[in-house]
Amino acid sequence: MSKSNVKPAEGKLGVLVVGLGAVSSTFMTGVLMARKGLAKPVGSMTQYDKIRVGKGADKKYLKYNEIVPIADLNDIVFGAWDVYPANAYESAINCEVLKEKDINPVKDELEKIVPMKAAFDHNYAKRLDGDNVKTVKDRWDMTEQIREDIRRFKKETGVDRVVVLWAASTEVYVPVDEKVHGSLAALEAAMKADDKEHIAPSMCYAYAALKEGAPFIMGAPNTTVDIPAMWELSEQTGMPIAGKDFKTGQTLVKSGFAPIIGTRCLGLSGWFSTNILGNRDGLVLDEPANFRTKEVSKLSTLESILVPEEQPDLYTDYYHKVRINYYPPRNDNKEGWDNIDIFGWMGYPMQIKINFLCRDSILAAPLCLDLVLLSDLAARAGRHGIQRFLSFFLKSPMHDYTKGEVPVNHLFQQYVMLKNALREMGGYEADEEID
Ligand SMILES: NC(=O)c1ccc[n+]([C@@H]2O[C@H](COP(=O)([O-])OP(=O)(O)OC[C@H]3O[C@@H](n4cnc5c(N)ncnc54)[C@H](O)[C@@H]3O)[C@@H](O)[C@H]2O)c1
Repeated sequence: MSKSNVKPAEGKLGVLVVGLGAVSSTFMTGVLMARKGLAKPVGSMTQYDKIRVGKGADKKYLKYNEIVPIADLNDIVFGAWDVYPANAYESAINCEVLKEKDINPVKDELEKIVPMKAAFDHNYAKRLDGDNVKTVKDRWDMTEQIREDIRRFKKETGVDRVVVLWAASTEVYVPVDEKVHGSLAALEAAMKADDKEHIAPSMCYAYAALKEGAPFIMGAPNTTVDIPAMWELSEQTGMPIAGKDFKTGQTLVKSGFAPIIGTRCLGLSGWFSTNILGNRDGLVLDEPANFRTKEVSKLSTLESILVPEEQPDLYTDYYHKVRINYYPPRNDNKEGWDNIDIFGWMGYPMQIKINFLCRDSILAAPLCLDLVLLSDLAARAGRHGIQRFLSFFLKSPMHDYTKGEVPVNHLFQQYVMLKNALREMGGYEADEEID
């Protein structure tokens, strides 16, 4: 680790999570259980993965914290905001993701995580009706109140650094509007003018976080930091931003499986993905305007892996459809089906079926941990703006679409980007081409 020029991870790391639902409570419970030695943080790259540094006879495989200074789980202090007043213990129990025996040993710590009042607008998630909500004059005031929350949290807990993670419900779709989202000045003016249509509450959280010197991660598919105004703010404040949408189940499979088809030069005529899901996330996504946000995010994955312009014989006009159906009996145990219609030699059709019986929050929790720890690392490494090396963890990786940049969705290319960034931050040579 001697070659790393990243600032050390000294002191406590505040992790402020927007939304204290299934994902967040599972994430927090797992971290608290892991640090008591009562559970393993399975699925977390920062805790398990080893990557090669050096070449030839000098090569060695090291864990991330042997390459760069990563914050220790024992140094994490949690805080949260939610529309509902349930504390993290109550939330973990209510969400029924984990068994009580896996929650109770850290009950005392979870009970202390009481959500601050949410910056919320009912029009952005109509299916929610909690009353643990801030009273605000306008969007600017909403931002100011969140900033105040962050400052108070820092003071009360004595943390040295804070990362803000959005693991709250998916908001209704906010298309990028150049006039409002195109520059920081325009965004601030719209907040002051209380432009509720273009300024989602999530933008107020992101703005507040960046202004308070905290990296911001968007775990839902919301537009939020995926706009030039926020890129500008993150450059100005020197803070990393990452998004959007945790890549957990179906899209993880898609971004790992599509390369099989592409690498073998097989054709694709259609890919139909459907899910049944019964948790609160599924309830919110049952609302068409909220689902639209998710759909845009989920659809983007294939386009940059199986590219029609590059292989017109193989990928022209394939039909790509994604559906999520709210089905309460399954709660958090989502079932996803993928039907993939491919064609081979002389155009003969074949089918592939994938049936993934997953657990949404069990897949999302390690991503929360990795995104938080790696964003904190990025901040200490002086990296700001969009953190492309975190695309590996995200369904719809942020990219500068104003310059025609194509996002990297291919899972294995994303892994190379992740490894190279860690090597570079660790003072090693980044030595794999990304093609
Ligand atoms: N679990 C996965 O596999 C996965 C994958 C990708 C993305 N996500 C996204 O992660 C998010 C969380 O998922 P979940 O299953 O925990 O949902 P959840 O409904 O259990 O929890 C979300 C919480 O956010 C709260 N909330 C909504 N708006 C808020 C606001 N403005 N401020 C503060 N709190 C607010 C809600 O009250 C709720 O308690 C969703 O947006 C979901 O789409 C999850």
